[in-house]
Amino acid sequence: MHSNYIMILLVSVSWAPDGASHLYKNHHLDKKTSSFILILNEKVSSVSPAQPKSKVHIVYLGKRQHHDPELITNIHHEMLTTVLGSKEASVDSMIYSYRHGFSGFAAKLTEAQAQAVSELPGVVQVMSSRLHKLKTTRSWDYLGLSSSHSSTNLLYETNNGDGIIIGLLDTGIWPESEVFSDKGLGPIPSRWKGGCSSGQSFNATKHCNRKLIGARYFFKGLEAEIGEPLNTTEYLEYLSPRDALGHGTHTSSIAGGSPVVNASYYGLGFGTVRGGAPGARLAMYKVCWNLEGGFCSDADILKAFDKAIHDGVDVLSVSLGSDDIPFTEIIKPDSILIGSFHAVAQGISVVCAAGNGGPSAQTVENTAPWILTVAASSIDRSFPTPITLGNNRTVMGQAMLIGNLTGFASLVYPDDPHLQSPSSCLYMSPNDTSVAGKVALCFTSGTFETQFAASFVKEARGLGVIIAENSGNTQASCISDFPCIKVSYETGSQILYYISSTRHPHVRLSPSKTHVGKPVPTNVAYFSSRGPSFPSPAVLKPDIAGPGAQILGAVLPSDLKKNTEFAFHSGTSMATPHIAGIVALLKSLHPHWSPAAIKSAIVTTGWTTDPSGEPIFAEGDPTKLADPFDFGGGIVNPNRAADPGLVYDMGTADYIHYLCTLGYNNSAIFQFTEQSIRCPTREHSILDLNLPSITIPSLQNSTSLTRNVTNVGAVNSTYKASIISPAGITITVKPDTLIFNSTIKTVTFSVTVSSIHQVNTEYSFGSLTWVDGVHAVKSPISVRTMIEESYANDS
Ligand SMILES: *[C@@H]1O[C@H](CO)[C@@H](O)[C@H](O)[C@H]1NC(C)=O
Ligand SMILES: *[C@@H]1O[C@H](CO)[C@@H](O)[C@H](O)[C@H]1NC(C)=O
Ligand SMILES: *[C@@H]1O[C@H](CO)[C@@H](O)[C@H](O)[C@H]1NC(C)=O
Ligand SMILES: *[C@@H]1O[C@H](CO)[C@@H](O)[C@H](O)[C@H]1NC(C)=O
Ligand SMILES: *[C@@H]1O[C@H](CO)[C@@H](O)[C@H](O)[C@H]1NC(C)=O
Ligand SMILES: *[C@@H]1O[C@H](CO)[C@@H](O)[C@H](O)[C@H]1NC(C)=O
Ligand SMILES: *[C@@H]1O[C@H](CO)[C@@H](O)[C@H](O)[C@H]1NC(C)=O
Ligand SMILES: *[C@@H]1O[C@H](CO)[C@@H](O)[C@H](O)[C@H]1NC(C)=O
Ligand SMILES: *[C@@H]1O[C@H](CO)[C@@H](O)[C@H](O)[C@H]1NC(C)=O
Ligand SMILES: *[C@@H]1O[C@H](CO)[C@@H](O)[C@H](O)[C@H]1NC(C)=O
Ligand SMILES: *[C@@H]1O[C@H](CO)[C@@H](O)[C@H](O)[C@H]1NC(C)=O
Repeated sequence: MHSNYIMILLVSVSWAPDGASHLYKNHHLDKKTSSFILILNEKVSSVSPAQPKSKVHIVYLGKRQHHDPELITNIHHEMLTTVLGSKEASVDSMIYSYRHGFSGFAAKLTEAQAQAVSELPGVVQVMSSRLHKLKTTRSWDYLGLSSSHSSTNLLYETNNGDGIIIGLLDTGIWPESEVFSDKGLGPIPSRWKGGCSSGQSFNATKHCNRKLIGARYFFKGLEAEIGEPLNTTEYLEYLSPRDALGHGTHTSSIAGGSPVVNASYYGLGFGTVRGGAPGARLAMYKVCWNLEGGFCSDADILKAFDKAIHDGVDVLSVSLGSDDIPFTEIIKPDSILIGSFHAVAQGISVVCAAGNGGPSAQTVENTAPWILTVAASSIDRSFPTPITLGNNRTVMGQAMLIGNLTGFASLVYPDDPHLQSPSSCLYMSPNDTSVAGKVALCFTSGTFETQFAASFVKEARGLGVIIAENSGNTQASCISDFPCIKVSYETGSQILYYISSTRHPHVRLSPSKTHVGKPVPTNVAYFSSRGPSFPSPAVLKPDIAGPGAQILGAVLPSDLKKNTEFAFHSGTSMATPHIAGIVALLKSLHPHWSPAAIKSAIVTTGWTTDPSGEPIFAEGDPTKLADPFDFGGGIVNPNRAADPGLVYDMGTADYIHYLCTLGYNNSAIFQFTEQSIRCPTREHSILDLNLPSITIPSLQNSTSLTRNVTNVGAVNSTYKASIISPAGITITVKPDTLIFNSTIKTVTFSVTVSSIHQVNTEYSFGSLTWVDGVHAVKSPISVRTMIEESYANDS
């Protein structure tokens, strides 16, 4: 089945399953894609032919009304019974009762039943469940967190984050991997209320230890979505916390893995692999399953948040995002918005992936202001791969070629080289004999064409492929298990010139090498989703960037005797656990800091140039200098985040004001929280939200906003404002000197922003930095002039 082939292809690319969502945007492949989607839809509907159709709905009731979980569940059943008519129908329909972090339930309801439930007293929101997708050796040294740097280093100061508990919502975990060894770790923190569940190929007693202290799995929402019990044979799954996809094993190893020396991917990236907080403990909440390359239902995600809040995690790492969904859906609340709200309200930091929808603008996901939203950057490592042409000229490409490549092979350009338009290799059939046993040269215009071109050459039994990609994407990898070398368009045309000027063109591919350091630049990765935030453009997103391109981490072993194996993955999924590991270290150092204070510390200390002072570019069409919509406050700088000087703090009341601006009404807001907070009667200005950044999407002439900062450095400190104004914008700060002493810990200041422009503009960027000689507390500023909204349509 051809459509099946597309599906497999997507999960076999080195950075799938995160990349899968791009497919829907690729015009070239629209036809194939839509047939693929159709088939899946048929499968789902053919197993649930009920009329009218029941769908999974989440009924959200806000804060808990009681502390007795059994009582809460009884209330849920009573509510459902009033609509469905009988207790039996209610029991049949209910999938989960959420009763720890907040109150609500998931149930199978028809549209009419959902409508009736939404009218019951106490119901905040009824949502139909939607699906979510999954979105190192070198990276920690690159960030200045080497174990050898000793005393000035955050790792040393926090004893590697010992005792902090990192929860992950992901695909499960491969517990035998050496990165999850508990050697040298103390006892499980006594405050921990979680635990491990046994299941298929997972024995809680044997597989959990003092490193992996929690392992749960949630699949009732998934089964309700697919309308049948999960067939673990058909889908190659384990009905247990065991990972069948490898994604959760990889992210867990990045966030809190124990050190493993001499790790590599067949020699590439050789070094010690470890997590950001190697002393931290891990709790896996498996919510994504091996369907369509990673299938996670809202009902299961919300249950995992509920459980994690109850269990007592300190940090949640959520490398998930919604599948490509219409804009109108993005602004509706989902399981991640609600689950993270309650987690943060209880002091748990929630770190989420920005998504892999880049480089287009407004693609960033997980945009609530209480979430730490993470973009992906590259590190200073590359994999140069020599390509020797038959004329003995050697040009360089990027690849992850391993093993044995023997001598020269024929080199072909599948189309007539004299054609005007370049070949894309995209029209090749598997029966094509022209590339069999040869190396093909292909030209493509983007990541997805590259992946398809490479797999078509592989299908046609080519020996390898050289791809000249006309985009800003510098990823070395195209597809796994096939020699695929990427070259620049310029190098591609040199190779093409060689082919067209020789009767028998030949080429020799040599194994890739690992290069670390100059001249490899740091970039925001091509795939990393970009701001501004669609639902709330005045809230800067993403917040920060972390290493997420070609990260070496633990994966499922291909040989069960070995159990520990490593591979490179790329995605904002890999950047997220980097930040979660750093948050764990900061929690250990500053146990009383709120999630907002930790987020502020990370955002205001980010690197806006690479660690050696060189500029950071954002890969794209075209590649350009990175701005706050690419990387928020910059690339995470953990040692400086440990001592930020000042923080922009916030609490639940501020988050509720944000929800007011999204249009939640008072009674609904009231139920989000224990505190009785009402929306302000005058329209609350979202510009006043105490964020560590300033973003003004439509400035008309002039506006003022306020912020306050809390001193977390030396008691007696004096800070002065240093302003870099965006082009055509003047900014004044009052007062421009902040004096802190033992009685004055928090100071409020106002910022007036005026535009000299007479026309509507695009965004321009600047910064406000508070400096005291030791610290530089830098907030990114993004301003767009919009003289009159009605003329503001599309540039
Ligand atoms: C689980 O592992 C423990 C410890 O290794 C062992 O004693 C027990 O028999 C195992 N249980 C099952 C069901 O295999
Ligand atoms: C599960 O799938 C396998 C393979 O497709 C099939 O042989 C088996 O009958 C299925 N089991 C159930 C219970 O449907
Ligand atoms: C790791 O590799 C180094 C050098 O390649 C070697 O000397 C050392 O014995 C290895 N250590 C382990 C534990 O394999
Ligand atoms: C390429 O180099 C090899 C060995 O160095 C030599 O034998 C061969 O003649 C050279 N080929 C060309 C086309 O220069
Ligand atoms: C590579 O090929 C050489 C010669 O054919 C052989 O001796 C060697 O074992 C091969 N190495 C690997 C890793 O396959
Ligand atoms: C490829 O060959 C197979 C078997 O010979 C045939 O069924 C199929 O139609 C061919 N496909 C194309 C695109 O020619
Ligand atoms: C500072 O701002 C935060 C967030 O808006 C607010 O909760 C807090 O009360 C303010 N503190 C002072 C002293 O103004
Ligand atoms: C708030 O929303 C709920 C449910 O959407 C509705 O029942 C209630 O009347 C609304 N209250 C106000 C004050 O608009
Ligand atoms: C715009 O702002 C400037 C300076 O802030 C002020 O002089 C001017 O009157 C303002 N114009 C309007 C139309 O508000
Ligand atoms: C802060 O300044 C006050 C007044 O100048 C002084 O008495 C106090 O010792 C200082 N505190 C610290 C921690 O330096
Ligand atoms: C702190 O500064 C304020 C304002 O300058 C001043 O009124 C107060 O006395 C100072 N407190 C101490 C302990 O120095």
